Amino acid sequence: MAKNLTPVWNKIAKHAMLPETTHDERARYNFLSNLNKHLAHVSQGTKTAYDTRVVPKFKEEHGRGIQNREELKEAIEKDSHYQIWSSLRRSTMEMRQQAGRSLVLRQAAELRDKAEALNNGKSTLVLNPSVKVPDYLLAVDNHLMPGSYHTELIEGDVSPAANYDSGIFVTTAGLIGRFNDGGGKAITTWVRKNHPDFKPKRILDIGCGMGHNVLPIAKAFPDAEVIAIDTGVPMLRYGHARAIDLGYNNITFMQMDAAKTTFEDASFDWIQSTMFLHETGGKSIYKIMKEVYRLLKPGGLTLHIEQPQYTDDMSEYEKFMRDWDALNNSEPYWSKMHDIDPCELMVVSGFKKEDFMQIGAKAENDLASDTTSEEEPEDFGRSPIWNVFGAIKN
Ligand SMILES: C[S@@+](CC[C@H](N)C(=O)[O-])C[C@H]1O[C@@H](n2cnc3c(N)ncnc32)[C@H](O)[C@@H]1O
Repeated sequence: MAKNLTPVWNKIAKHAMLPETTHDERARYNFLSNLNKHLAHVSQGTKTAYDTRVVPKFKEEHGRGIQNREELKEAIEKDSHYQIWSSLRRSTMEMRQQAGRSLVLRQAAELRDKAEALNNGKSTLVLNPSVKVPDYLLAVDNHLMPGSYHTELIEGDVSPAANYDSGIFVTTAGLIGRFNDGGGKAITTWVRKNHPDFKPKRILDIGCGMGHNVLPIAKAFPDAEVIAIDTGVPMLRYGHARAIDLGYNNITFMQMDAAKTTFEDASFDWIQSTMFLHETGGKSIYKIMKEVYRLLKPGGLTLHIEQPQYTDDMSEYEKFMRDWDALNNSEPYWSKMHDIDPCELMVVSGFKKEDFMQIGAKAENDLASDTTSEEEPEDFGRSPIWNVFGAIKN
């Protein structure tokens, strides 16, 4: 096997909801996954261009070094290497959406029917049409996904989730496992190792999407009642059908806004989010964390998996590169979220400073043996090495 290639799309786990793909569609996904990986290598040259061309030129013109991210952006965007890397990366993201959408839309009705057959009569899918999609989500096509998570093109639509599920493999170059659940697995392992006596009875996953990362949690705690909430109805329909097909019966998928849930005070032992907070608006993140505090039982645990926060000791270059998605990939809340101090976020939401925790987590990837064994270069924003922060409510 060619170890310098990403795993092939065919390796991802199959289930009843996964869209059908033709040979050419799989080939397109495989090409894009490898282009994505290749661009992580190309981005290494951006650092060389920055050090050897961009910074010296700026010094020559201004008589001083670059002092902030805005100056860095203006200077680096004139550099040809950065331009090539950035435009290719943008094109990869656009092509990934086109590839996913074209294969999903031609079978949208069949996918809807499959979801309806699996969801029919189940009390574990709870939709509530009075729940509104937050304005900050309506304002963008998240990571260039046309119509984002909520748009329904046909009645009962599941196509946004089918597109997300089949194509996330491309965006992550196959680094988060066959079920795209490397984050959920990693956090489950951490909780079991570090809190061996923790036996949560009720678990809430907020911004669950189509449930990739809540499934390993539900599997690890089969006696727990697990509730997964989202405002995107197509995600919930597809996620619930997928979970049923994969044999999970302890997860209820509910249409609910994480900033204003209808659950009682102190009703959960564990509240989890995975790659969710960076997609919430600047004010909403505070409302959501206050809600998390309200919903946790005393002694309850909350954890949030995200890409690394921007810290004082992180270089402006690295912060700028990590901001690429905010500037070019329709992730407008990304910069602000990564700029905030997570400890302060938890403290203003009610948690005690001494109960704040921050850990590193790497995706558990059951496809690891199919990919390169060499160290991969940091691709700034997409690598599955995460910052997890949270607290215990005392
Ligand atoms: C990147 S996806 C989440 C991925 C998912 N947690 C996973 O691990 O695969 C972000 C999700 O958050 C949802 N979302 C954003 N704001 C929300 C809110 N206020 N309440 C509930 N869901 C929200 C979106 O609809 C979207 O499905």
